[in-house]
Amino acid sequence: MALAQWKAEYATGIAVIDAQHQRLFEAINRMEDAFKAGTQEDEAKESLAFLARYTKEHFDTEEAFMRELGYPLLTFHQEEHAALVAKIQVLQRKVDEDLTIPAHMADFAAHMANFAADWLAHHINEADMGYVQFARERPAL
Ligand SMILES: [Fe+2]
Repeated sequence: MALAQWKAEYATGIAVIDAQHQRLFEAINRMEDAFKAGTQEDEAKESLAFLARYTKEHFDTEEAFMRELGYPLLTFHQEEHAALVAKIQVLQRKVDEDLTIPAHMADFAAHMANFAADWLAHHINEADMGYVQFARERPAL
């Protein structure tokens, strides 16, 4: 069973955001699986590069949405996003430093996948639901 699962309770009701959140959970799982497989070095690197790219793409979508809404906690939310991007970059640097992916890299990737899945679940429930609530309550334009 996959480690990271999107659940109905994470639904924001905003179709594009929900689709991206689901895809992010999938990307985290794919990354962990690719590193576990060990021998598929290119696949592991590509799965990590995809996770890094897609995380940024998703955060850009959310930040543009919050900006459009005039959401007052945008800066705080952006800082949370930047912290996850930085963590993923640490893993990418570690992978880049090694010519081959050793066994400890699989452990590190598993740790990173656990962290990212946990981070995402909490971030959706706490930070993302804040702008969702704000969007629902704002007066109709
Ligand atoms: Fe967010």
